[in-house]
Order: sequence, then structure tokens, then C-alpha cells
Amino acid sequence: MKLTPMAPRCGVEISGVTLAQAEGDTLDSIRQAIWEHGVAVFRDQDFSPDDHIAFARRWGGIDVNNYFPLHGEQPEIAIVKKEADESTNIGGAWHTDHSYDQVPAMGSILVARDLPPQGGDTEWAHMGAAYDALPQDLKDEIEELEAFHTADHVYKADGIYAKTDMGKNLRGQDLKTGAVHPVVVRHPQTGRKLLYVNGSFTINFVGRTREESLPLLQRLLDAALTGDNQCRLQWRPGTVAIWDNRTTWHNALNDYQGHRREMHRITLSGEPLAA
Ligand code: SIN
Repeated sequence: MKLTPMAPRCGVEISGVTLAQAEGDTLDSIRQAIWEHGVAVFRDQDFSPDDHIAFARRWGGIDVNNYFPLHGEQPEIAIVKKEADESTNIGGAWHTDHSYDQVPAMGSILVARDLPPQGGDTEWAHMGAAYDALPQDLKDEIEELEAFHTADHVYKADGIYAKTDMGKNLRGQDLKTGAVHPVVVRHPQTGRKLLYVNGSFTINFVGRTREESLPLLQRLLDAALTGDNQCRLQWRPGTVAIWDNRTTWHNALNDYQGHRREMHRITLSGEPLAA
């Protein structure tokens, strides 16, 4: 197994591994690499929907997504797709999956199924590197803070997606979500400090209104993208990416209008987060 960093502080490409057969020590090494680098990319994988589910079960539990369309025969798999005649994509802003859950998902396994001729890359940003790069006064200011996260404004019947041509494809418009997490969490496995707010789902700091929270929240969101904590993946057929949602944000680029893109995603269960 060979590890090649994708960028100085985010992402790693892992070669010499057949994901469909990975288990035991190999799986442990993959986990360790993802916890450290935030996202791992595997090329040229023969990875059927059954392999996808079996691998996710070997990793741990599966959190079925409440909003995306699900695979007809394998409902553990969420379909992340945009048709050629649609304009809005899923995940087209920096975010981390499921931060609105009380126990946020550990991560996601995304498999390329149908790609546009060009474009449709995905970017990640490492929130451990983002935290490290904050000035000390900002670190001190957020040390004890907690923040409220929800997805309701994104997915509800008159929410952000409902106003677009992606709204008709989504489920769960009646769901109510909400969770409070520390603004700085410790990675459950490595103990590294991570900045845990994101622009899509973090609404306010506990004890402050949205308006009172916005100046500091915006300062953190701006500081979280430091430049050298980001990596970018150009998908090819057979590419699989696995990322850690606690350690990273991600952003699906929507620069392939007029073409179809379909990905299969399984979300891996996580554990409660603590400061
Ligand atoms: C997502 O999980 O937010 C979508 C990522 C992608 O389609 O590249």
C-alpha cells in the first residue's frame, strides 16, 4: 500500500489496495490514513454496489441519508446525481455531512458511477489544519463555545433546495433536525483539535442569536479555507473517495452544465463529539 499526499495539508491518494477485499490490517491502515489526512482517494477500483455496502459494513455502521434519493435495490446507498437538464447539484457549497445530527456521521464513501466529460471535481478542506492556523486570540475566543446545527432551512418544503430544480428529487422535507456540538472538537481517534462549524448547517453559537453569532461565525468560515489546507479530486471511472466528516469540509463543483453526473454515497456512522 502506497500513500501519496494530494496537497500539503489535506488528502492522500492510496494505491496498491483493492477496496472490495480490504479488511483487517489493511482496513486499519486505511482508517488511520483517513483520520490523519481527512480524505483518501482510490483509483481504478472495481467496486460494485454490493462491494460498496460490504466494505461499509466492514468499516462499521451505515447511516442512511434522510434526504437524497436512495438506490432502488440497495437503500443503504444514496444517489448523488444531477441530470443533464438540471442546473442545481447536491453538495455544491462547502459543508460537512450530517453535522445537524446528534451523533454526526463519521464519514462518507463516494463512488463515481457516471461522470461528465469534464468538470464535477470535489474539493476538501482539512479542519485540523484550519484550527492550527487560527490566530491565538481567536482560538481562545472559541475554546469554550458550542454551536447549533440544523438542516431544516436547507431541505424543508420552502427551503434552499425547494427553490431549485433539485428540490423535486429530494425527500425528508418534514424532518426536524438540530444538534449542539463544541466549536472545537477533539478527533475521537487521533485527539487532534478540529474546527467544527460549517457554512451550510451551523446557525448560531449557544447563548447568542443568529445575528449576534454571524460576525464571529463568518470570521471562522473565512479562516477555515487557508489555501494550503485544501485538496481537489478530478474523478475518473473507478475512483472512490472516503472522507472523515469531522476532519474535513467538502464542496462538489457544479461546472458541467448540460451533462449528467451520478455518484453513489454511503454515509458511515460516527460517535458523539466532545471538546
Ligand atoms: C456530497 O456528498 O456532498 C457530494 C459530493 C460530490 O458529489 O462530489
